[in-house]
Amino acid sequence: MLSRRTFLQASAALGGAFALGAGLAARAGTTPGPQVLTAQLAQAQITVDGVTPVMTYGLGDAPHAALPPVLRMRKGEAYAARLVNRLDEPTTVHWHGLRIANAMDGVPEMTQPYVYPGDHFDYLFTPPDAGTFWYHPHCNTLTQMGHGLTGVIVVENPADPNFDAEIVLNLRDWRLGAGGKYIDPFKPRHAARGGTYGTVRTANWQQEPVYDAPAGGLVRVRIVATDVTRIYTIGVEGAEAKVVALDGNPVEHPFLLDRMDIGPGQRVDLVLRMPDGEGARATLGNFRGSNPWTIASFRAAGPSLKRHHRDVAPLPANPVAEADLSTATRIPLELTATAEHKATPSICGSLGFTFWALNKVPWPGDTPDPIAPIEELKLGKSYVLEIANRTPHAHPIHLHGLSFRILSSNKRSFLPPPTDTILLLPDEQAEVALVADNPGDWVIHCHIIEHQKTGMTGYFKII
Ligand code: C2O
Ligand code: CU
Repeated sequence: MLSRRTFLQASAALGGAFALGAGLAARAGTTPGPQVLTAQLAQAQITVDGVTPVMTYGLGDAPHAALPPVLRMRKGEAYAARLVNRLDEPTTVHWHGLRIANAMDGVPEMTQPYVYPGDHFDYLFTPPDAGTFWYHPHCNTLTQMGHGLTGVIVVENPADPNFDAEIVLNLRDWRLGAGGKYIDPFKPRHAARGGTYGTVRTANWQQEPVYDAPAGGLVRVRIVATDVTRIYTIGVEGAEAKVVALDGNPVEHPFLLDRMDIGPGQRVDLVLRMPDGEGARATLGNFRGSNPWTIASFRAAGPSLKRHHRDVAPLPANPVAEADLSTATRIPLELTATAEHKATPSICGSLGFTFWALNKVPWPGDTPDPIAPIEELKLGKSYVLEIANRTPHAHPIHLHGLSFRILSSNKRSFLPPPTDTILLLPDEQAEVALVADNPGDWVIHCHIIEHQKTGMTGYFKII
């Protein structure tokens, strides 16, 4: 039972981190921690026919050859992590979806310096929202994320209902060829379209893993799309699954999952009602395109617990401020393709081209002097972004440090709870509302990393 084993490994590592943390806390006097998060090089078995050199995070000092650990935090409680860089290139950590202080946001040259090899950086913040989030570098991301640096964050709320089991799924692809060796990380002609897909599809770094879960039980499945390109259309067969949270925030009225699109950066929390018969399987699949395939499956174990979806209370809402639409200022945000030009080289990796733009301005790369913000926002004021996707491709647009609510769209009827990432469909026009309640420079970008790195990036300055 991999989920339990992974959990036990993580707990063992956590024990070590807490022991180390105790000493530092004694010196600092106040906050516990930090948890040491070591970015490192390792070898892992991703395909059957070879060993792949990967980048991963481990807890503490010990070498770690598996996927980055699930980091567990508590809503409203301080969390401290020391990033130690044992890669051979600079890196940082961005805490995707956490509404924390700008200085902790992990964007090099904008919110913090690069963390060079052998160096470290101390993160300290208090997550205000409970739910499913994730972490990844914000430097040379096509390589660093593509080679393994994507991990899941679970922010717990003591008021959350209890489930019979929890399974965390980190979905991602790898661009590997024969012998588990990397092939070219991207093709420019794909970067200028939907992005370059991986060749090996995994959940928790495994192809089609199978998880045991209590028969007839209610299982919270936390699904995180951490791939650099792939948009999934998920569905469950062989069991009923209710959608209870999207992008970290509880849905007001949980509903049965049929098919749902989930773009890079996005999360879905399901409550899966396991089949009753011992050994019976439920399958999570990707139904995008004409050849559905299995992402992971769940095998019923033990005598049936005979549970019902109605047995669990809804998840408590997060404290996301609602925009005041009567005073909100409207800001247009246009996603477009741009004339192709050569991009400037960057310490955090440039793909060498510009194909995309926000409001007609292609991001020039992570330079010491960032370009002007898309707009300056006033702290505490409400805004409506009028986002227009003027391209024939879907773009998962992610805003750092803030959550926004989708008010309307010409392409969707279901309006999700507040989110940090909206998957804009081709030619979609959507209005999203937010309260600019977190000061600082907040990046907004497409989470198809080739799009992010070839121009589809900008930022808002909140002062
Ligand atoms: Cu998930 Cu700018 O990041
Ligand atoms: Cu995009």
